[in-house]
Amino acid sequence: MTELLADDEAGVARAAALLLAGELVAFGTETVFGLGADATDPRAVAAVFEAKGRPHFNPLICHYPDATAAFADVEVSDVARRLAAAFWPGPLTLVLPRRITCPVALLAGAGLETLAVRVPAHATALALLRAVGRPVAAPSANRSGQVSPTTAAHVLDGLGGRIAAVLDSGPCPVGVESTVLDLAGERPCLLRPGGVALEDLSAILGVIDRGGAPGGSPRGPGMLESHYAPTLPLRLDAHAARPGEALLAFGPAPPGAILSLSPSGDLGEAAANLFAMLRALDRPDFTAIAVMPVPEHGLGLAINDRLRRAAAGLAGGSPPG
Ligand code: TXA
Ligand code: MG
Repeated sequence: MTELLADDEAGVARAAALLLAGELVAFGTETVFGLGADATDPRAVAAVFEAKGRPHFNPLICHYPDATAAFADVEVSDVARRLAAAFWPGPLTLVLPRRITCPVALLAGAGLETLAVRVPAHATALALLRAVGRPVAAPSANRSGQVSPTTAAHVLDGLGGRIAAVLDSGPCPVGVESTVLDLAGERPCLLRPGGVALEDLSAILGVIDRGGAPGGSPRGPGMLESHYAPTLPLRLDAHAARPGEALLAFGPAPPGAILSLSPSGDLGEAAANLFAMLRALDRPDFTAIAVMPVPEHGLGLAINDRLRRAAAGLAGGSPPG
């Protein structure tokens, strides 16, 4: 049985106690629900991979209540400090070299010499992280290959019975995962577009390399993932539904559209709705989900990245994510 914990002091205390006892607890962040484990406990971390059915080579993000706690575990550069000051708490993950003293289990970082760290902008998540007092490793709380959960009900759909508890802190306001930026190399490199827009990072960093560019070798294991896939095939850049298809609009819904990511064309609203609407349309009475074009700027980069992965996940041959 998976406990459903209320978003109050008792719920947070129970969640923290379970985590410290080596159990798995899903909790909401501003981006998506994370499947949390005590990052310093290799058995708890192993249980995360088991519950998700995720290949072990995929490293996890460690979550901290503040930058001071995060930077105690990684080697910090000037750039990292500036980015943390600008975007933490918030949907930005920084990949930095591990300190020799870093207590995070090697398995959490998939044996890499770097560690992905982040401070989520979510009051309940921060209360939980403070109560635990240890880094919490948390991938998105879905079975591998499924879309990320943005409500406690989504988490229970995929992981109910496989984890100790879900802390129900309500729907996730951002709706797509954090932006992952690799600062361990000579130049900053974007490994995953996400909740912090590339334009906002560029305002501080200047030009940013894009990981996983066509032909280039991926720097982040995450670039290999065929994540976020609904069961139905996805057809992108659609302008109308073909027979049998469910049309997912962006902007005002044309006749025949079932849902719109954002009727007013707001990218933030679209990101927040993305995973829940893909789930809602992923039904056997449709043959495919046709998605209208989403502009490629701001949060549109993250939305289109998730849509392309979801579409590619069905082409076959991609490694499981
Ligand atoms: O918004 C989020 O980031 C959510 C919430 C729960 O915080 N978490 C999340 O975790 O999306 P996950 O495990 O689904 O995605 C982590 C991404 C993967 O693409 C992984 O490969 C990459 O971060 N990553 C983690 N550690 C890394 C490292 N040391 N070097 C390169 N990439 C890393
Ligand atoms: Mg994920």
